[in-house]
Amino acid sequence: MPDRRPLIAGNWKMNGLRADGTALARDLAGRLTAAGAAGFDLLVCPPATLLHAVGEVLAGSGVALGGQDCHAAEKGAHTGDVSAWMLADLGCSHVIVGHSERRHDHGEDDATVRAKAAAAHKAGLTAIICVGETEAERDAGDAETVVARQLEGSIPQGASAADTVIAYEPVWAIGTGRTPTVADIAAMHGMIRHRLHGLVASPDSVRILYGGSMKPGNAAEIMAVADVDGGLVGGASLKADDFWQIALSV
Ligand code: G3P
Repeated sequence: MPDRRPLIAGNWKMNGLRADGTALARDLAGRLTAAGAAGFDLLVCPPATLLHAVGEVLAGSGVALGGQDCHAAEKGAHTGDVSAWMLADLGCSHVIVGHSERRHDHGEDDATVRAKAAAAHKAGLTAIICVGETEAERDAGDAETVVARQLEGSIPQGASAADTVIAYEPVWAIGTGRTPTVADIAAMHGMIRHRLHGLVASPDSVRILYGGSMKPGNAAEIMAVADVDGGLVGGASLKADDFWQIALSV
């Protein structure tokens, strides 16, 4: 069984001004430094406006920095967008692509997500590719079919465990306080692991994160599930105590 070091990633979404963001980053950096050798990787993905300031605070701390999205192009006439190369230039090592909020709010389909992940790889970033079914899809019994289709459509050619992380985020669990049963999480993560064979190099080494209403009270139970290799945390990542507690649950 390959050794998959857990990754605890905070997706701050569209939250935080400079004072809050830098204070949160300083708090996390201090905790990781004080902890010495941690048994997990810690990553924060602030909004683009905070990447520079948060990156300065995190420098040398061991807490990694990531973007929440990138454009598929390296540069050009794309008003308001940020390229993967710009993220790398700011010190990011990761970027989230295909989050359901991007898929829903910006009409991103699998082909778009795949192009963004490919750009991330070219820029030297690890792409965290998000997949997950809606409540209607789960109720219809289509959850695994939908997620399998998203995986096949969203993972670019040449992807490997070194540059790709998968995040399973059931849309109906995001920000709702609801989570799937551990049996459902185990079934989905097992299916994802199985499907990764043929889609990425070293599929057994790819980290598969769970995301959706993860909090200190449920993190240990979720993280103990086979093929759950960490979490992509939204709301609870905005509070240092909660995020740190989740990280300590691995
Ligand atoms: O990307 C993280 C996410 O969508 C989960 O959000 O607030 O349910 O933890 P939340």
